[in-house]
Amino acid sequence: MDSDARDDAEPAAGTMPYLLTPGPLTTSVATKHAMLSDWGSRDIEFRALVASVRTQLLELAHAGRGYECVLMQGSGTFSIEAALSSFIPQEARALIAMNGAYGKRAEKILRRLGRDVVILDKGDTAQFTGADIADALDRDPAVSHVFAVHCETTSGIVNPLEEICAEIKSLGRTIIVDAMSSFGALPIDMEASAIDVLVSSANKCIEGVPGFGYVLCRRDLLEASAGRSHSVSLDLFEQWQNMESSGQFRFTPPTHALVAFATALEEHAREGGVAGRGARYARNRDILIEAMRALGFETLLADDIAGPIIQTFLTPRDPAFEFDRFCEELRTRGYAIYPGKLTARDSFRIGTIGRIDETVMRGAVDAIAETLQLMGVEDLSPA
Ligand SMILES: Cc1ncc(COP(=O)(O)O)c(C=O)c1O
Repeated sequence: MDSDARDDAEPAAGTMPYLLTPGPLTTSVATKHAMLSDWGSRDIEFRALVASVRTQLLELAHAGRGYECVLMQGSGTFSIEAALSSFIPQEARALIAMNGAYGKRAEKILRRLGRDVVILDKGDTAQFTGADIADALDRDPAVSHVFAVHCETTSGIVNPLEEICAEIKSLGRTIIVDAMSSFGALPIDMEASAIDVLVSSANKCIEGVPGFGYVLCRRDLLEASAGRSHSVSLDLFEQWQNMESSGQFRFTPPTHALVAFATALEEHAREGGVAGRGARYARNRDILIEAMRALGFETLLADDIAGPIIQTFLTPRDPAFEFDRFCEELRTRGYAIYPGKLTARDSFRIGTIGRIDETVMRGAVDAIAETLQLMGVEDLSPA
């Protein structure tokens, strides 16, 4: 981010904190400003904006003529549930490649829907390999669909998407990818990787505000899903049909979030698209990790699998380290962070995405150092 862009960033310490979280994220002033107008959901300008957002998302995903983009109101989970219920038939068996909470959430959705599910659980700290998936599919030929999370935001681990997809495709299964926290910052080529379905949302790496998610998918799968959804509001086929025929959402759209997203997409392009955005996040990550290690913190993950989205640090063993106080002190200094989400170890997470740059990361680490001193924390080795 150049200095002009930083002037455009909000907030400054002392007002609202920078959101060093997995989303919602700190957004630019221009993105927030776009929400100051009230758009009618049926207006021709709004419908044109929706059409343009759909086209741009397909372009970003390298999804060509055979693909469609369906926007869905709600948080990312609503789009995940819409995709799972629409694309996995009642009689199918799905494999969930799991290494964190978002794989677990997909399992919960599928079980609630009465689908047959098998789990390949790698724990919190190991990536999936293509070979892991190939073994699981060999063992269970009845599996027809594979669900995998690209960046498991539970820890920040990035699974090797291309390698996994190549295996799944060569074994003839349908691939559903949760790219919620990676799309827009990590390269994804849906056509080259033969990804059938991909889900993400507005308030992650495109840096929009919360309000909707999107499902990018093969058109023939969408057509075949007619009448399958258990839900009226999450029925992707009907949502798509309506968008195609009238350019409108079926039910009240998050107009402000969509207009903000259109601005966020312009800024994404100005920053150099996926490569530019990914490079800024990687710089944020490098600065954060180096400075946190210099203070004495340990990361959960090895550097080669940690990714540039969110970093997990192990909770220090020093009894003076009390997470709630640590968090509150940071918040008063202008930085919001999240607790860990691991099953096995105590940890906390610091996000490196959103409208933040090196200056913000350095400011955050200074605030952490000050807070540790204030709390009297000396031993940062993990519990
Ligand atoms: C990988 C992943 N999947 C799914 C979700 C769920 O999205 P939401 O919280 O918007 O429902 C998240 C949210 O952070 C995520 O990171």
